[in-house]
Amino acid sequence: MPDHSRSRRLYSDACEVIPGGVNTSLRRVSPQLVFTRAQGAIITDADSNDYIDYHAAFGPILLGHSYEPVNRRVAEAMQTLDPLGVGTTELEIRLARKICQHVPSAEEVLFCNSGSEATYQAIRLARAVTGRMKIIKFQGCYHGWHDSVAMNVISAPEKLGQIDPLSKGSLPEVLCQTIVCSFNDLEEVERAITENRGEIAAIILEPIPHNIGCVLPKPGFLDGLREIAHLNSILLIFDEVITGFRHNLGGYQKICGVTPDLTTLGKAMANGFPIAALCGKRELMDRFNTHPKGDVFFAGTFNGSPIGCAAALATIEALENLGVHEHIFRLGEKMRQGLKDIANRLKIPATVAGFGSIFLTYFMEGPIRSYRDLLRNDQELFVNYRRKLIEHGIFQLPLNLKRNHISFSHTDEHIERTLQASEEVLETLAGRSTVGA
Ligand SMILES: Cc1ncc(COP(=O)(O)O)c(C=O)c1O
Repeated sequence: MPDHSRSRRLYSDACEVIPGGVNTSLRRVSPQLVFTRAQGAIITDADSNDYIDYHAAFGPILLGHSYEPVNRRVAEAMQTLDPLGVGTTELEIRLARKICQHVPSAEEVLFCNSGSEATYQAIRLARAVTGRMKIIKFQGCYHGWHDSVAMNVISAPEKLGQIDPLSKGSLPEVLCQTIVCSFNDLEEVERAITENRGEIAAIILEPIPHNIGCVLPKPGFLDGLREIAHLNSILLIFDEVITGFRHNLGGYQKICGVTPDLTTLGKAMANGFPIAALCGKRELMDRFNTHPKGDVFFAGTFNGSPIGCAAALATIEALENLGVHEHIFRLGEKMRQGLKDIANRLKIPATVAGFGSIFLTYFMEGPIRSYRDLLRNDQELFVNYRRKLIEHGIFQLPLNLKRNHISFSHTDEHIERTLQASEEVLETLAGRSTVGA
């Protein structure tokens, strides 16, 4: 059992001045660790315990922690520029060009600082353009902290089928403008549109709902949404805050061949530096009042900051030149295959899920088509398994339905160590041994 005594002392200091000791609710987990270093694939806690990190800050860490070429470019930018609050920098122009070059739906781009800001602006724009107020989101998808979308992610069974806000204090008048549908259920979406004819501004979704692990879209689902949205003059918004850059330079839309009207990007875009983006068709984006004729308010003191832009440019160039996706997809496949073999050997009911660099093990039999299916997941085993892995130096966030991320800094050896630890932990938790079998 690793020593966590210094972490515990520091965490109790944190609790004196920070509510609950953390700055995002999901950072409060057991054991409560304080981290002092992050390098490559390894994070180190205050008691000098090292962990192979798959949490990756919920996804931004795509190249590896403190990735030197990105940090260097940020340092260089800082030598010459900081936020000016007026005009444009060459960094912003170059970055916007790169995104338009790679992301199929991007004709123009605006930068902000978080995924929540990007989805907020996308929805506001959709409402302005269509003159309609309602939106459709999907159970299990997360799009940030604002009232229109902060609902129905990991809902208790009794909350399914109703609005399940993530927060007290959300405006009921805003909550009731959102209709929640089941992922992979086109008929339900069509029904919602018929029942609210002429009232729906946008359909927003994660093309792969990674906020409940990894539920893949059924063949035809994304194309179907595209068609339905088009037929009903509804804007289709792909929230690619997780899938963007991680799965492909052009986002998942490049892989699935479905082009949304608007796309939100964030997280892995700058390997951990704060920047996010909203992009889409020119005729839509020009409605923002950054354009002289625009009437949709868009502002932010730190938007397009040199630090974020320099980090994003360096990250994108690494993705263009270093074979990052080949590496992380290969390791992802190796991890998923290894985990499947372990579950089979131990005869544990499990579904190993993932895409590219993302993997996780649901403790249930498939098929998994939507959040409702995941209610069968053995939550206790899922959380215990990940908590036990921490004792073996493997960090996967010990909360229900959380995904894991492989970065360019992970190696075959990290995957092999993780598989070995996974087998040991699962053997213990399943209360059986395969030794000699
Ligand atoms: C798909 C998706 N969209 C939007 C957000 C919100 O991003 P941020 O936390 O940067 O505001 C998240 C965050 O986890 C996300 O996963």
